[in-house]
Amino acid sequence: MTDMESRLAEIFARTEQEERTLFEKAGEIIRSGGLVGMPTETVYGLGANALDAEAVRKIYLAKGRPSDNPLILHVCDVEMAERCVELNPRARLLMETFWPGPLSLVLNAKSLVPLRTRGGLDTAAIRMPNNRIALELIRASGVPIAAPSANISGRPSPTDAQTVIDDIGDNVDMVLDGGPTNVGVESTVLDVTGEDAVLLRPGGISKEQLEAALHAEVKLPQDGNIIKRSPGTRYRHYAPKIPLVLSAPSGAAEAANGRKWIWIGVSEPDGEPYKKVIFSNFDEYARELFRVLRFAEGSGAEVIVAERPSEDGIGRALLDRLIRASGI
Ligand code: TXA
Ligand code: MG
Repeated sequence: MTDMESRLAEIFARTEQEERTLFEKAGEIIRSGGLVGMPTETVYGLGANALDAEAVRKIYLAKGRPSDNPLILHVCDVEMAERCVELNPRARLLMETFWPGPLSLVLNAKSLVPLRTRGGLDTAAIRMPNNRIALELIRASGVPIAAPSANISGRPSPTDAQTVIDDIGDNVDMVLDGGPTNVGVESTVLDVTGEDAVLLRPGGISKEQLEAALHAEVKLPQDGNIIKRSPGTRYRHYAPKIPLVLSAPSGAAEAANGRKWIWIGVSEPDGEPYKKVIFSNFDEYARELFRVLRFAEGSGAEVIVAERPSEDGIGRALLDRLIRASGI
């Protein structure tokens, strides 16, 4: 294996020819069963050939991920998606509206997709990321790329290349550095196999956006009889190494309960935090969340007090990640 420096391949400041050579090399790693860290618009992914069960096994090993938690297939166009899953009119409409973008669609899988990639399920989640580097890599590989977030299972997702190296650098053949990601929370996972579209994981595309495109209500897994859940959402996630509590700005000092606290949110808190990070809006709060969680761990604070967002737009995804980080 090459040393860490040469595995972290920066895309910036390369000539077109150098860049092409780099993508060819990365594509060859994927085709031959290796692992490549890649940026997407949401978080960095740990990519492998989705059609190669042995390559996919390496992802689970590198992350320490439970093998019943299925992976998302990343494609560079609708044709590639069609080779992997059964499309229906609603899926086509959503692809047209939101792809490339942070929307993963759960559809019935075709037999080309190994069971290991889909965690033993009949369905597979698929998306086309809105990131040039990810799309070039998929094109150069010629195969769909299975990629979970490139963190050790349970840790906050990585939103820059160095964090990928820090977390799983020893187990990856190359990391493509595309700079910090711009959505910051993972894709929305939407089940479109049944009569109702079911939101399995809130993410970069909001429930309101989906409903406007579908002209129909999007259900939540706990609504009525629908108990189906995205398997990944059963596990504790995004855990920072210090505790996190959710609070309104007015109750922040009380929530800290005598501990040295770092405040994160869009409003000024009541009381005197040890440190504070104030975002200009909820989009920025979401974009910076995972980075700030990792920063807070080494800040000297004993507890993270996070402003509770309202449950609309990106706020729903943000609240979901904060609740998981708080371990409740
Ligand atoms: O933004 C993202 O989606 C990032 C980037 C790298 O694309 N990827 C990501 O992957 O977040 P991961 O593995 O950390 O989360 C995938 C989620 C899990 O909650 C998993 O259970 C769910 O998608 N999922 C995958 N296939 C599924 C399926 N067939 N049915 C239901 N849920 C599925
Ligand atoms: Mg993840």
